Amino acid sequence: MRCRFRRLNYILFLSISLFLFYRIYNINPISLYSQSPFTLIHYQNNTYRILSSSFKHNSRGSYLNFAYFNVEQRNRVLYIDFLYDIPVSSQWQSDGHLYPIQIAQYGLSHWSRLELNSKNQQNKIYKFERLQPNKNNHCSSWHTIKDEIFLSNTYIHFTISSNCSLHFHFFSNNIELVYSTKTIHDLETLTKRIIPLKGSPRQASRYMLIDIEKLMRKTLVFRRDLIKIQICGDTQSSVTQLIIGNQTLYDQQAFYSATRWLLNNQDLQTGCWFIHVRRNYGHHTQYHLRNPWCSAMAQGQAASLLVRLYSLTNNKEHLLAIRRAIQPLWSSNLTRAYFNNRFLWLEEYPLESSTKGLFVLNGCLYALIGIIDANTIDYQPYLSELINQIIISLQHMLPYYVHPNISNWSLYDLSHITMKSKINTASYSYHLVHITLLQCLRQIFKKTNHSVSQLFDFYVQRFTSAIL
Ligand SMILES: *[C@@H]1O[C@H](CO)[C@@H](O)[C@H](O)[C@H]1NC(C)=O
Ligand SMILES: *[C@@H]1O[C@H](CO)[C@@H](O)[C@H](O)[C@H]1NC(C)=O
Ligand SMILES: *[C@@H]1O[C@H](CO)[C@@H](O)[C@H](O)[C@H]1NC(C)=O
Ligand SMILES: *[C@@H]1O[C@H](CO)[C@@H](O)[C@H](O)[C@H]1NC(C)=O
Ligand SMILES: *[C@@H]1O[C@H](CO)[C@@H](O)[C@H](O)[C@H]1NC(C)=O
Ligand SMILES: *[C@@H]1O[C@H](CO)[C@@H](O)[C@H](O)[C@H]1NC(C)=O
Ligand SMILES: *[C@@H]1O[C@H](CO)[C@@H](O)[C@H](O)[C@H]1NC(C)=O
Repeated sequence: MRCRFRRLNYILFLSISLFLFYRIYNINPISLYSQSPFTLIHYQNNTYRILSSSFKHNSRGSYLNFAYFNVEQRNRVLYIDFLYDIPVSSQWQSDGHLYPIQIAQYGLSHWSRLELNSKNQQNKIYKFERLQPNKNNHCSSWHTIKDEIFLSNTYIHFTISSNCSLHFHFFSNNIELVYSTKTIHDLETLTKRIIPLKGSPRQASRYMLIDIEKLMRKTLVFRRDLIKIQICGDTQSSVTQLIIGNQTLYDQQAFYSATRWLLNNQDLQTGCWFIHVRRNYGHHTQYHLRNPWCSAMAQGQAASLLVRLYSLTNNKEHLLAIRRAIQPLWSSNLTRAYFNNRFLWLEEYPLESSTKGLFVLNGCLYALIGIIDANTIDYQPYLSELINQIIISLQHMLPYYVHPNISNWSLYDLSHITMKSKINTASYSYHLVHITLLQCLRQIFKKTNHSVSQLFDFYVQRFTSAIL
């Protein structure tokens, strides 16, 4: 009691002195005491994050505000791939494709979560060393986890042999989720879904909540549930090291899954992660993207992700993959366009005709951050030169991204200039993306080039004045 009283006194004293302090010096207490690298923005029932003054970009650290991205939950994610455990995108191709931008973002968001949450994992974790079918029976008996588990904590990790299936029965929600490496499948029903894991034996790292939501298209009634586990297969089959509820492990594995796919699927000659989806830009039937296309944004974000991998591994192969990722940004016109035939731009969506450009703002800024990350761990004069050229382009071009009629609002691209189309006003969320990217660049150049930092600061001020 006494102790508590003393603390109360102390807090009271502190509050009074702080009060006086602010009164006298008129310092904004929020910015002074804001330890968080993010400023929260509430808009239409959503919470967004832009960067705060305590944010520091670090090529090895968390990436922008991506720790708060939930890539796998997005509508554009069809399901989680059965071989790589990475999201399959339905953007521009409804039956799904592996989209390098989304995969890089998936990796970056899980890396960033690890950086932010590394110290405060509280979840209860369940482990099973080894599960096997009964001697004379095709299936084991059911193992019941003794506590109810929050579905938001259904991260699972296991190694499964071939010809084997691992069954999870969610008692209250009445759902059975089966991870199977068998070639002949059981029957799926309304309450039972089979996920045909490819490659076996295989280590898998999945989030059951996402598998249920994406594959069963079911809204779950109960957010916690009793879970029973069973394994089926011949007497040789087994599931080992089954771990349930370790989010840190899931974040790590998601990061590695993304980097593994990128390392295995890079075109070694060009360095591109080519995208084979044929598409026009927006409603412009006459403007086709190159086929296949190489996105500067994919190259830049993948480079940022691989820089973080390389900081862990110091593996020469990973460094070479980073150099290749950056290659199409400087050594060819695969991802480039020139504004007014003069100002170099890195295109998120490169058009077939290299004389035409869309000049999507966020894509080029993400690419720029990727180049900066690569140049930080592997300095190259030609990258510094490239950074310089892009800054010069931004100096000339940023004024065109200010909306002519909505004060201090931003534009998504410059298609109204290059294609004479309707002005492409940034959505609310893209406007915040623009602010976040410009804030990050302002911070990056703060120490090294004051005038460049001021350039970004000018647009940060303008664009934030429209939302605050
Ligand atoms: C915000 O949430 C409330 C309550 O769920 C809902 O009525 C309202 O329509 C939502 N607003 C928007 C803009 O989504
Ligand atoms: C899996 O089952 C198939 C068909 O029964 C069999 O041909 C194959 O050898 C089995 N694989 C392993 C690794 O046991
Ligand atoms: C969860 O996984 C992480 C990463 O592999 C590991 O360091 C940690 O010890 C695990 N936590 C528990 C309680 O097993
Ligand atoms: C890229 O295109 C520009 C403008 O058309 C041209 O000047 C330049 O030589 C090209 N660069 C490469 C590497 O092809
Ligand atoms: C700052 O950056 C600009 C544009 O990239 C460049 O022209 C200038 O030389 C740089 N200044 C310094 C001091 O590095
Ligand atoms: C902007 O305002 C001008 C003048 O009022 C108008 O002619 C033009 O159509 C407006 N542009 C857009 C995109 O709303
Ligand atoms: C745009 O933002 C700047 C910087 O905050 C501000 O000075 C200016 O008044 C704003 N312009 C308009 C038209 O609101």
